[in-house]
Amino acid sequence: MKRTRAHLPSRKVIAVLAAALLATGMAACGNSDTGDGGGKGDGKITLGFSQVGAESGWRTANTTSIKESAAAAGIDLKFDDAQQKQENQIKAIRNFIQQKVDVIAFSPVVESGWDTVLKEAKDAKIPVILTDRAVDSADKSLYKTFLGSDFVKEGRLAGEWLVEQKKAATGPVNIVELQGTTGSAPANDRKKGFAEAISANPNLKIIASQSGDFTRAGGKQVMEQFLKANPKIDVLFAHNDDMGLGALEAITAAGKVPGKDITIITVDAVKDGMQALADGKFNFIAECSPLLGPQLMDLAKKVHNGEQVPARIETQETTFTQEQAKAALPNRKY
Ligand code: AHR
Repeated sequence: MKRTRAHLPSRKVIAVLAAALLATGMAACGNSDTGDGGGKGDGKITLGFSQVGAESGWRTANTTSIKESAAAAGIDLKFDDAQQKQENQIKAIRNFIQQKVDVIAFSPVVESGWDTVLKEAKDAKIPVILTDRAVDSADKSLYKTFLGSDFVKEGRLAGEWLVEQKKAATGPVNIVELQGTTGSAPANDRKKGFAEAISANPNLKIIASQSGDFTRAGGKQVMEQFLKANPKIDVLFAHNDDMGLGALEAITAAGKVPGKDITIITVDAVKDGMQALADGKFNFIAECSPLLGPQLMDLAKKVHNGEQVPARIETQETTFTQEQAKAALPNRKY
């Protein structure tokens, strides 16, 4: 059958259809690229992340988790190391705002003093996610969610274990405490949880408590001072493995046997800490997981898409005795 011109689309119709298709495509690209806070135009979400620093084995594992998860999720990560200074974190967040990233996430070095910069992010319509550590802002609308551990619980679990171990004690049990970074959420909360738990037994007394800034060097230095000033130390509660590992050196140098003469309790359960526990140098660890990357990337995508997310997402954690550390070590990822 011979085709008439009426059955074929005219050049004009084809041109109109093509123009319409192009316009729809461009509109779709515009939505996904610019999002809340702008974008690079390649369809990828840009996440600005301000990390506390590199003070501990935990922090290194956390940074690795975030970088690897961003790459796996196809998220363009702008990573900033604040070297444990709040002013550097504030500067980094302001840079992220200027660069119009899609989402900002950060692990606040200390709890206070974030309202102004968080308000700036909110005004720029850039959603903020807190990871690992919380802020004490009264205005909860300044951030979308907080993903991280329950630090009070970690301190409480450490204290409860000690109460059980020392339940037969008839005299004073002298405890020294190595606190994390002054003003940080884990230092404040672990101190609180531990103190609450040991208050169950009046024999358990904290005789000295000072910050070792979550570092090995800090733990060693402060433990040396504790040992000089206090002839009878029965227990060390260190707010992280690294400070506990630093303290081991000071304890050994003072001629004492760690894990025997002084009971050592820490938090984190990174490989080196777990090794010390398996070797009998530490006695108990409350776990704090640094593997927050996959959940963070998932949340970044959700808040960028305007989806509702829970205001608080708590990390699942456990505790380890010496025997449990021996069993867990071969499969420990960090
Ligand atoms: O905020 C988590 C804490 O920070 C970890 O317990 C400690 O090791 C790190 O430096």
